[in-house]
Amino acid sequence: MDYQAFIEQQIESIRRTVGSGTAINALSGGVDSSVVTVLGHRALGERLRTVFIDNALMREGEPDQVVASFRRMGIPVELVDARRDFLDALAGLTDPEEKRNAITSTFYQKVFGDLVRASGAKFLMHGTILTDIEETVAGVKRQHNILSQLGIDPQQHYGYQVIEPLASLRKDGVREVARALGMPPELSQRMPFPGPALATRIVGEVTEERLATVRAATRIVEEELAASGAFQYMAVLLADRATGIRDGRREFGQIIVVRSVESVDARSAAPTEVPWPTLHRICRRITDLPGVNRCLYDLTPKPPATIEYI
Ligand code: XMP
Repeated sequence: MDYQAFIEQQIESIRRTVGSGTAINALSGGVDSSVVTVLGHRALGERLRTVFIDNALMREGEPDQVVASFRRMGIPVELVDARRDFLDALAGLTDPEEKRNAITSTFYQKVFGDLVRASGAKFLMHGTILTDIEETVAGVKRQHNILSQLGIDPQQHYGYQVIEPLASLRKDGVREVARALGMPPELSQRMPFPGPALATRIVGEVTEERLATVRAATRIVEEELAASGAFQYMAVLLADRATGIRDGRREFGQIIVVRSVESVDARSAAPTEVPWPTLHRICRRITDLPGVNRCLYDLTPKPPATIEYI
């Protein structure tokens, strides 16, 4: 495929669709929404408003890093602090689907919905890719960014038109477009990270304290496995507890699972054969975190497991 030609076609098509109007998009820092942001900006310049919504569920330093990466490319991104909205919506919830629904509806109906309405933009740019459409139509996954494929007309329901420049590509194609656009490797090669973010890695209630634990463990796993070349790696906080000994006293502590998988397209996955010394180092660092006294390595392939925990 000629990716330069694809880029030119998409830029032309975005310009034609939006005409003299304005568009808005939400950037997560993942490769899909990042490519859409760059394409949209090249097509529309300042007539595209890009927001990064801090939902309290991001990794350490992530909101500032993403905004800074785009600033270096000359693209302004507004950082919107919506941490309280998401934490309040998640309070008391333990069921995985209820947690996901709370995040989706807080995002679309409240935080981003309010921004879109206030902006007056008639066009919403979205990083939907072909795999999202296929999995949604097949009922494998509830992707929240698919509307027209499910027979919902956003123009009729919400008063705006959705533009999906990547709907014909899979992830490898999106990464090629990112490279062809000259985007830095920290964006084009970015490891997949789910929309509901660290909430997919907390079994049980999402609280600020539990987020701090999984965030610190995530940083350790990402540091230790950065050079591994694995497809995706993460830390997960379980709802169970286990007894341990700290400073000579018994402790009923937290359990962190480390997961690293090899995959091509995330539809199936095998556990990474992480060397023992690396696993031991990760375990030592993670059990140094306050209140965490167990660290487990997940050997389950997908299927039967999924990659994420909720
Ligand atoms: P699962 O857990 O279903 O994940 O095996 C497959 C891949 O998709 C990512 N993932 C998501 N990505 N929104 C996303 O944008 C989501 O709700 C979501 N859930 C899972 C996951 O990280 C993995 O790469």
